Amino acid sequence: MTAPTSALAELCADALAALASAADEAALEQWRVAWLGRQGGRVTGLLTSIKDQPADQKAAFGAEANRLKRDIEAAFAEKHEQLKRRTLRELSTTEAIDVTLPGRPQVIGRLHPVTQTLRDCVKTFGEMGFRVAEGPEVEWASYNFDAMRIPEDHPARDMWDTIWVDKLIDGERKMLLRTHTSPNQARVMERTPEPPIRVIVPGKCYRQEATDATHEWMLTQIEGLAVDEGVRMSDLKGVLYDFSRKMFGTERKIIFHHSYFPFVEPGVEMALDCFICRGEDPACHTCHGTGWIEILGAGMVHPEVIENAGYDSNRYTGFAFGIGVERVALLRWGIEDIRHFYQNDVRFLSQF
Ligand code: PHE
Repeated sequence: MTAPTSALAELCADALAALASAADEAALEQWRVAWLGRQGGRVTGLLTSIKDQPADQKAAFGAEANRLKRDIEAAFAEKHEQLKRRTLRELSTTEAIDVTLPGRPQVIGRLHPVTQTLRDCVKTFGEMGFRVAEGPEVEWASYNFDAMRIPEDHPARDMWDTIWVDKLIDGERKMLLRTHTSPNQARVMERTPEPPIRVIVPGKCYRQEATDATHEWMLTQIEGLAVDEGVRMSDLKGVLYDFSRKMFGTERKIIFHHSYFPFVEPGVEMALDCFICRGEDPACHTCHGTGWIEILGAGMVHPEVIENAGYDSNRYTGFAFGIGVERVALLRWGIEDIRHFYQNDVRFLSQF
């Protein structure tokens, strides 16, 4: 039995005609099974019939049949592409998706400037030998106030407009959002049987403040505490000077003012020269015309606070400080208003 070359050409023409009339992907798949299917596909059958050809025609027939198969496969691939493109085009109108639209770029996030500053501060104190501890943001009034020598009727409680937790305990409000990180002085000493102590406690604090360029109702503080034999005010100043140089460079001016905090004696505030007005604008919003921006409170731990922890205040002395981290960030980058930090505007935040 012979299959003349003209029969091959005819078969090819039939295959291509059938292919051309396949209107969708389902019809195309039917065509593929009928013509190129492994079982019973007509082109496949043609190839298996090569071996049945008379010896003298086998080679020519085989070559022709294989060429035909390649042509048909190429035509199939082309048709397949065509139908796929058409389906996508249709989808893009019916589904109203523009598949040619480029993807949206992924924006890479970064640490909040206050977090960056907090970490840099922690690192700086770490290099000076301070370890890091943490305390609760929802605090007992007894720690936040009493342990810090701010009793119930003491006017110093009015220094902070406190945000209380409503729940009554024994008929009283006893918990609050801590107004400072200082209660951790008591907490750390309480769980340390005996000095030396050198610790920092970073964290958020809350005050019901009227906000302005340098005050926010939520603030980040770093409490520092060192207790040992022979700790002196000069140690406190040395540590804070060192900290300032590392954070702000050697050009900035630092000043200590006397101040009052019930849990230290003596007490100070440390300020840096105002980067906005350099002390020359009495109406400056950032320094309020003083020329200085206060960044921390500090002092020698009050002997009563030391005694409350069960230590002998004749033997042990200590210093403490509480740094306003947002203030440090303001000064560091020359930001004129603290409220930018928590307005969540990426145009601001992505600059740092
Ligand atoms: N806790 C004080 C405040 O929040 C700061 C401070 C800390 C002062 C430690 C003295 C010693 O203002």
